[in-house]
Amino acid sequence: MNASVHLLPHSEARAALEAAARASLRAPSVFNTQPWAWRISGQVMELSADPARRLAVTDATGRLMRISCGAALHHARVALAAAGWSAGVERMPDARRPDLLARIRVTGLAEPDMAAIRLAEAIIRRRTDRRAYGDRRIPPKTFARLAELAEAEGVRLHLVPEERVPELAVAVDEAADVEYFNPAFRSELSRWTHRPAWTGDGVPPSTVVQPTMRRVPARNFLPGGTAGLAAGSGGDEGARTSSSPAPAISPCTCCAAGRRCPRCCCTPPPRASRPPRSARRSRCPGRTGCCAASCRGPATPT
Ligand SMILES: Cc1cc2nc3c(=O)[nH]c(=O)nc-3n(C[C@H](O)[C@H](O)[C@H](O)COP(=O)(O)O)c2cc1C
Repeated sequence: MNASVHLLPHSEARAALEAAARASLRAPSVFNTQPWAWRISGQVMELSADPARRLAVTDATGRLMRISCGAALHHARVALAAAGWSAGVERMPDARRPDLLARIRVTGLAEPDMAAIRLAEAIIRRRTDRRAYGDRRIPPKTFARLAELAEAEGVRLHLVPEERVPELAVAVDEAADVEYFNPAFRSELSRWTHRPAWTGDGVPPSTVVQPTMRRVPARNFLPGGTAGLAAGSGGDEGARTSSSPAPAISPCTCCAAGRRCPRCCCTPPPRASRPPRSARRSRCPGRTGCCAASCRGPATPT
């Protein structure tokens, strides 16, 4: 059934949007900072990044904050579709308000979407589990499906080839050292691993995993502290490493227009300093030819 939402009481649209905002709280975010804010007005809900929650040291450019907001937006969209609402999403709707990342407008009632219902159930069950993986291999078919789902959201799922995992492990280890010896990073990490329980954010020590041998080291969230979870008996043998939220959709017109890009999470340089379009295209490291030099582009295909 389709019906125009203006025939429905505002209170129903508002309740649906509130439920969607609550569902977004289950989204993964960097250090579980939940760096977003929702604002509801009538049938419209706006998603803004919350710079007060940006990790000033770990995330100086705000890239991880914006990816986290994208996850929140995804969860809100799923919640609305699962509850039988159709909604339109406008990304980066106002160039004068760069922190305003999206506007969701409830447009009517729709048949509840079965795929969205399954996803909404999974959102409630999902947990970040940092313990080591076991030896069971994941079937290639599962990866193919995951890649397809990622592409549908404009993201490339990049699987690190097995022979390059040792190289990655060394890079991660070195990056961890750089973080470890940075007092500002340690203090930021400590703030977000010791949040009062009532906030419901941050990474509680009870969820942090004790160090163990792994193929690729995991971040040590509690250097010198006591992690609450044993790593388990696995050694990550069955794990496949993936990386890099990267743009999969082309062309990326917002970069070309000098706006911050919601797809590739890069910030183009100011227009005045930008090279001509032809030069930008030839320098783009990605397959989409989309971005200026500040974009890291999609990861190398495997
Ligand atoms: C939504 C989101 C969830 C994250 N969850 C974790 C996590 O559970 N454990 C962790 O060590 N880092 C987590 N991070 C931080 C990643 O480690 C971070 O993206 C990475 O270090 C940055 O690498 P990149 O710039 O190549 O993406 C998360 C980041 C985002 C955006």
